[in-house]
Amino acid sequence: MSSRPQSKARTPAIVRTLKDLRRRIALYRKSGESVALVPTMGALHDGHLALVRAAKRKSKHVVVSIFVNPTQFAPTEDLARYPRDEAGDLMKLASVGTDLVWSPSAEEMYPEGFATRIEVTGAANGLEGAFRPHHFGGVATVCCKLFSQVMPDIAVFGEKDYQQLAVIRQMVRDLDLPLAIHGLATVREKDGLALSSRNAYLSPDERLAAPALNAAIRSVAEKVKAGGRPAAAIRSAALALQRAGFAGVDYVAVVDAETLADWSPKSGRPGRVLAAAWLGKTRLIDNVAI
Ligand code: PAF
Repeated sequence: MSSRPQSKARTPAIVRTLKDLRRRIALYRKSGESVALVPTMGALHDGHLALVRAAKRKSKHVVVSIFVNPTQFAPTEDLARYPRDEAGDLMKLASVGTDLVWSPSAEEMYPEGFATRIEVTGAANGLEGAFRPHHFGGVATVCCKLFSQVMPDIAVFGEKDYQQLAVIRQMVRDLDLPLAIHGLATVREKDGLALSSRNAYLSPDERLAAPALNAAIRSVAEKVKAGGRPAAAIRSAALALQRAGFAGVDYVAVVDAETLADWSPKSGRPGRVLAAAWLGKTRLIDNVAI
């Protein structure tokens, strides 16, 4: 009798209908096993895989959702050209041991007649909320649906989208949703650039300039920590970004790490520096702790 060596990298099962998803989740639950959800829009990179690894350390089963959510894009944004690579995503997920991929169509997620939207304020105000007014309502609505579809014990999000993480935490708290939210530190390239699916849009020259965003906000954090005035540190960061070739700076802000309201060193509370800026046609965001 011959036996083939078992490959450790098993392609995860993929479900595309809510009925199939519920059947799978019911099996996990029947044996009393914990479930973690990692919500994604696909085009997975090492940052996403770090989220899956963290989820695996905390739960028996990991479900990764792959859904490019149309309701969080404005008509002028990059929904149509958002990178998609399901086969590549499945291979990467196999390498980190995902149990199940939930990949519904837009019609499965938003069937005809769908007419409900979660309205978020508080942590959603300002910053990304000011530049992308539809964004967080769409993110909150799809995440609320994902939570009620998968019914996870925990969901894991990256700190890269720091305001998104704050909005999700706020929603879970405000709506008494029965799951815990875990935030994971941003995964970066060696030169400091935060991993993002949108980095794929950068030309070679833009890629060279991109780490200036992280350098600029780290410099703000250092100056403010040393007692400098936030406004002055923000001004020099914006200048540094322009000099590095960024076409426009949407914002550089120093905020309270939890509420995202303005932060002052006197508050004694943790602060965070967040920024969004354009390199050519690509909008990059990043943030660091103070
Ligand atoms: O961060 C993302 O990829 C998306 O905003 C999320 C959380 C999957 C919701 O569509």
